[in-house]
Amino acid sequence: MKIILTGSTGYIGREVLKQCLSHPSITSIVVLSRRDLNIVDPKLQVILNNDFTQYPSEILLKLAGAEACIYCLGTNVPVSPPELNRKINFEFAIGTAQTFAKALKAEYSTKPFKFVYLSGALPEKDPNKKLWFLAENRRMRGQLENALLQLSKDTVASGFEVFIARPGFVQAEGALFQNWIVGKLSNAIMVHHLAACMIKVALEGNSEVILENNVLNAIGKKAITS
Ligand SMILES: NC(=O)c1ccc[n+]([C@@H]2O[C@H](COP(=O)([O-])OP(=O)(O)OC[C@H]3O[C@@H](n4cnc5c(N)ncnc54)[C@H](OP(=O)(O)O)[C@@H]3O)[C@@H](O)[C@H]2O)c1
Repeated sequence: MKIILTGSTGYIGREVLKQCLSHPSITSIVVLSRRDLNIVDPKLQVILNNDFTQYPSEILLKLAGAEACIYCLGTNVPVSPPELNRKINFEFAIGTAQTFAKALKAEYSTKPFKFVYLSGALPEKDPNKKLWFLAENRRMRGQLENALLQLSKDTVASGFEVFIARPGFVQAEGALFQNWIVGKLSNAIMVHHLAACMIKVALEGNSEVILENNVLNAIGKKAITS
């Protein structure tokens, strides 16, 4: 299976890439990145791109045949100015999903295309609710989730499916303290379990569209041990 990945230079995306490269069911990974990865692997193709709201036809041609995208691009803290923050954390994601839903549509006619969006734990879908921390980004994330779910509803007949991963505190693999935190906090997850879950959903789909931390943990752990 051919899969598209964004955010592959980041903390979470890097783990997704590592697992994709060794996954027997994934034969080709096309990474969309603003900078090179300096990784050579016969399965990997890196396409350099700065603007994720625009996909020229030569890029779309290279993406043809892909059956899923794991979207890990985004920032943990708001970027300044607000217009740039919105561009990176809202417009890039919805622009990519809309483009794939439309431009790659012919590719989905036989098999569904799965768009797995890496969100966060506390998106706020009600724009009028008063929020005490990270208000702007949480509202924007809620608005983005709503827009992605609407896109999924509008395009489901043509086989475009959206899944939203909502991890809590994502902990690094191998560190004793982090393992302890995951054991103590229900709203925490190891990065390799999160990556394994998103890959499993990209390959096979899932009955639930929104994947909360407990579901991510359960699917990810099972995927790693099977
Ligand atoms: N880390 C957590 O605990 C956690 C928990 C829940 C949700 N999340 C969400 O998951 C997503 C990824 O988190 P992370 O911790 O992996 O973040 P990260 O380590 O900062 O990685 C961010 C990724 O996004 C890319 N990116 C950022 N700005 C970009 C831009 N302007 N143009 C192109 N690419 C850009 C980065 O590329 P460059 O390397 O080129 O900068 C990198 O690949 C974020 O949306 C975050 O809010 C994270």
